Amino acid sequence: MSDLVAVILAAGKGTRMKSKLPKVLHKVGGKPMVEHVLQAAEASGARKKIVVVGFGSEKVTEFLGKRAEIVLQKEQLGTGHAVLQAEPLLQEFVGTILILCGDTPLLEGQELKSFYEEHKASGAAASVLTACTHNPTGYGRILREDNNNVMGIVEEKDASDEQKTICEINTGIYCVEAPLLFEILHTLSCDNAQGEYYLTDILFKLREKGQKICGIVTKDFPMIMGINSRRQLAEAESIMRGRILDKLMDNGVTIMDPASTFIEATVEIGADTIIYPFTWLEGQTNIGEGAIIGPQVRLTNVEVGSETQLQFLYGHDCKVEKQVTAGPYVHLRPDTVIRDNVKIGNFVEVKNSTVGVGSKLPHLTYIGDSDIGSGVNMGCGCITVNYNGKKKYRTIIEDNAFVGCNSNLVAPVKIGEGSFVGAGSTITKDIPANALGVGRGRQITIKDWAEKYRNS
Ligand code: UD1
Ligand code: CA
Repeated sequence: MSDLVAVILAAGKGTRMKSKLPKVLHKVGGKPMVEHVLQAAEASGARKKIVVVGFGSEKVTEFLGKRAEIVLQKEQLGTGHAVLQAEPLLQEFVGTILILCGDTPLLEGQELKSFYEEHKASGAAASVLTACTHNPTGYGRILREDNNNVMGIVEEKDASDEQKTICEINTGIYCVEAPLLFEILHTLSCDNAQGEYYLTDILFKLREKGQKICGIVTKDFPMIMGINSRRQLAEAESIMRGRILDKLMDNGVTIMDPASTFIEATVEIGADTIIYPFTWLEGQTNIGEGAIIGPQVRLTNVEVGSETQLQFLYGHDCKVEKQVTAGPYVHLRPDTVIRDNVKIGNFVEVKNSTVGVGSKLPHLTYIGDSDIGSGVNMGCGCITVNYNGKKKYRTIIEDNAFVGCNSNLVAPVKIGEGSFVGAGSTITKDIPANALGVGRGRQITIKDWAEKYRNS
């Protein structure tokens, strides 16, 4: 076990986001920002993760569940005060504390690991991860002496005009030795432009005490980007999106147009699958190999089998198995299972139903609360009438049944195996196996009627 513990600061309101949602719960790549930071902390090798919560603490705590230990910062008095709240959980701890902010979603574990290793190798009491950028606005600036040693950090709001021109910024990521960290935190004051207990001030304090402090520069500025506004959120989203798509392409997925493809970090896709433009893949969506998805497909929590082809389709909370073709203009709603080799055509909606192997729903059909067997053919414009205004009922269509065009199957009703339904029927009673059910007005034909009508 390493002697590394991570403390993640997530108590701030995120005033600049102008949101009711705590800042760290805003999503990037489909996951709350704090989730990304937590994952990076896990990958860094930290043996314990402590998250400091405050604004919207119930929501953040609920999201974190058992994944981290939680401490409450009742009043948000600054980043230094926030870290101090973790002290009771680290009373006996001797080792390094990796301090992270919950608003840096692009962070990666490997970066943290090497930062920690460099810190250890330097023998410093505290190290800060820094980055150089053309646009340092909003970040604390790193102050260095002529010999390049770090002196401390000055916040933008406290910086002189000259200090504001410094391009090396504080990423808000630190490694600090404990118990020294807490000893210093107790001595912080809030005598600054924001009246807050700044964590950044620990560097000045440590230096004053003759401790070694170290500034380690990362080359990857976007990785440490802190999100304070919706604009920065969009910027991070775009970077994250590029990363996700790159990873998928590296794993053998073809993305026809990365600029119009939106895939969340939670999605998995097999090799040789092709993603056409204007496609959104979200949540727990999992796609097999050799599939063709898009154009214009949105899938949220959908499991898709190999070699399935979907176009112009919206599916959510459902499963589509192997070698299915569906679309254009299909809506697959929750609790639907589409089995292998099914064909679903234009303008079809399926809800809370199972469609068996090789069945066909080619055109203009609504299937709700139904169990359809295999080899079933539903003609154009079939409707399962599943709702009487009070309750929903199921329709059962057994294997190899053939339902003629424009039929209504009024549930609860069962169409037996291999039987036929005459086109235009409204079926209200069960049809046994191998039978024909017809339920419609009989046609009458009156000769010469039209001529008489016109002359009347
Ligand atoms: C902070 C740093 C700044 C650095 C930047 C990097 C300080 C004083 N400044 O500024 O030098 O360049 O991060 O992104 O540390 N938080 C709490 N409790 C509080 C206040 C903040 O938990 O009382 C949390 C926030 O939820 C956030 C993190 O600490 O996750 C950083 O706070 P934020 O207000 O975003 O600090 P910055 O102004 O960005
Ligand atoms: Ca910030």
